[in-house]
Amino acid sequence: MIIDYAALVAEARIARERAYAPYSRFSVGAALLSADGRIFHGCNIENASYPVTLCAERSAFAAAWSAGVREVVALAVVADTAGPVSPCGMCRQTMFELAPDLAVLLANLGGHEQHTTPRELLPGGFGPDSLLK
Ligand code: THU
Repeated sequence: MIIDYAALVAEARIARERAYAPYSRFSVGAALLSADGRIFHGCNIENASYPVTLCAERSAFAAAWSAGVREVVALAVVADTAGPVSPCGMCRQTMFELAPDLAVLLANLGGHEQHTTPRELLPGGFGPDSLLK
């Protein structure tokens, strides 16, 4: 499948507008493209009990997996950062579990972009195979 990254980033920017981030005021958007061509949005959803916060990336994966999707081909993440936004450790772990070789595009509002994969973002990550003896 040919991936239209510009369109995916545009979708992530739309998702970002829906962030619920009253505490950090740091809005993040994600757009996850499934193998069957659907796009699932994710945004960060904060909580007065701060650690309960859900990041945009995990929000997008939750939306896709909840819809029954199990094959995804690309993810765009965008925030208002100096360089491409850096996913947190928990999101790296989630992405490594569900789609280790996913094409991930990290971006900021200024057009800086970095192409990577969950495997690259979490070197030596603990995954499904790690449970095998
Ligand atoms: N956040 C994300 O949603 N994704 C990232 O890649 C980095 C951090 C959120 C969590 C929290 O709501 C806010 O950004 C500040 O940490």
